[in-house]
Amino acid sequence: MKICVIGTGYVGLVAGVCLADLGNNIVCVDINKEKIDKLKQGIIPIYEPGLEEILKNNMKNRRLRFSTDLDAEIKASKVIFIAVGTPSKSNGEADLSAVESVAAHIGKSINSYKVVVNKSTVPVGTCRRIAKIISDNLKNKHISFDMVSNPEFLKEGSAVQDFMRPNRVVIGTEHKKALKIMKDIYDSLFLSTGTYFVATNLETAEMIKYAANAFLATKVSFINEISRLCELVGADVKIVSRGMGLDERIGSKFLHAGPGYGGSCFPKDISGLEFLAKQVGYDFKIAKAVMEVNKNQKLWMVRKIEERIGNVKGKTIGILGLSFKPNTDDMRDAPAIVIINELLKKGAKIKAFDPIAMNEAKKIFSSKIEFCDDSYSVAQNSDAIVFLTEWNEFREIDFAKIKKLLKNKLVFDLRNMFEPDKIIRLGFEYFGVGRILTK
Ligand SMILES: NC(=O)c1ccc[n+]([C@@H]2O[C@H](COP(=O)([O-])OP(=O)(O)OC[C@H]3O[C@@H](n4cnc5c(N)ncnc54)[C@H](O)[C@@H]3O)[C@@H](O)[C@H]2O)c1
Repeated sequence: MKICVIGTGYVGLVAGVCLADLGNNIVCVDINKEKIDKLKQGIIPIYEPGLEEILKNNMKNRRLRFSTDLDAEIKASKVIFIAVGTPSKSNGEADLSAVESVAAHIGKSINSYKVVVNKSTVPVGTCRRIAKIISDNLKNKHISFDMVSNPEFLKEGSAVQDFMRPNRVVIGTEHKKALKIMKDIYDSLFLSTGTYFVATNLETAEMIKYAANAFLATKVSFINEISRLCELVGADVKIVSRGMGLDERIGSKFLHAGPGYGGSCFPKDISGLEFLAKQVGYDFKIAKAVMEVNKNQKLWMVRKIEERIGNVKGKTIGILGLSFKPNTDDMRDAPAIVIINELLKKGAKIKAFDPIAMNEAKKIFSSKIEFCDDSYSVAQNSDAIVFLTEWNEFREIDFAKIKKLLKNKLVFDLRNMFEPDKIIRLGFEYFGVGRILTK
């Protein structure tokens, strides 16, 4: 199948590369010429485990190309995937300008029947609007196209695996021909991985994506509130979480107390859902509470540090981990941004290290913080060490060495990576999130 994927970010690039690997003929298009030039040389602009190898294999066997010529590539393809960004505006509404501009472009360019598939996460009703924009821009009103909503559920850090072995593929469309084409594209997944297939209309498909992300964000805020209670009543949230998660009706995923959710999806999608609810006259109380709890959780992390250290002015806080989660370089809405900025505002000095996200972090903090080459340089003469992202390499850290380097032997484990007793036995004061602490 000849497919054009528009947008080569985390979703578009992974989708393009994986669809090529499934045997399709793919061209990935982006307006960012620099990105496309790099991709043509096999250089991927994001960190995503396993992606580079599949990309290079499929470029070699000519199933995968890169281009900036949107017009020509739309004309040459049968199926067009839209995978451009849909960030939040300051009022919480989704910014659909990139999606709308691509839709107008598609309308102007198409010269024969096409299936237009939206993969970007968008408010309910957007696919129908995209279809209208395409129709309004058609040069030849006799040319037909079918609109499909095909939301993406991959997770950064395991995106290739998630795309290749998804729990489900959701396809929203009212057109049998388009549904058949979509099934053909994903066919090998249904045959080889037992992936479920959910066929529905445009609006339901769009709502599945928003509802799924809002629900996962709700789980995170819920366990974070439980962690606050645990601290007040002497319970251990890690064990509470395990005890809850073993119930199949609840499940263990997204039940980890920490500094709050971040990333490019949960914050924007839950605020987008709440905005949508408001627009149609519904007061979505849970969504509002989830966002409020998440905002407070990040500030609570700073208060935890202050409660032990006192005034942080002039103190050096060592931060380990900056990306919003491990195995990605994505810093969008990472809890580290709020926590570090809050500490800076209060006069603290920050030293930081992240195994992969340093370049992205430098774009955000520039010279406001000191970037170090490794965890031990961060610890050198710091008043405390704060774990903010649960990278595996931090689990292997040599605490004896850290102890010698730190000015004060304080460990703030904001991801609950370590067993409190073990760290305390090594001679540190330990602060986790919702953990039982030995005095
Ligand atoms: N990142 C994730 O984990 C994830 C997971 C599921 C769904 N999504 C959704 O997928 C969509 C894309 O997310 P992302 O993280 O890949 O975004 P991204 O910001 O990483 O990438 C978007 C890409 O689109 C390109 N672009 C913007 N306007 C364009 C245009 N007019 N023509 C061609 N290219 C254009 C940009 O240059 C950029 O390369 C969003 O709606 C997001 O919510 C993201």
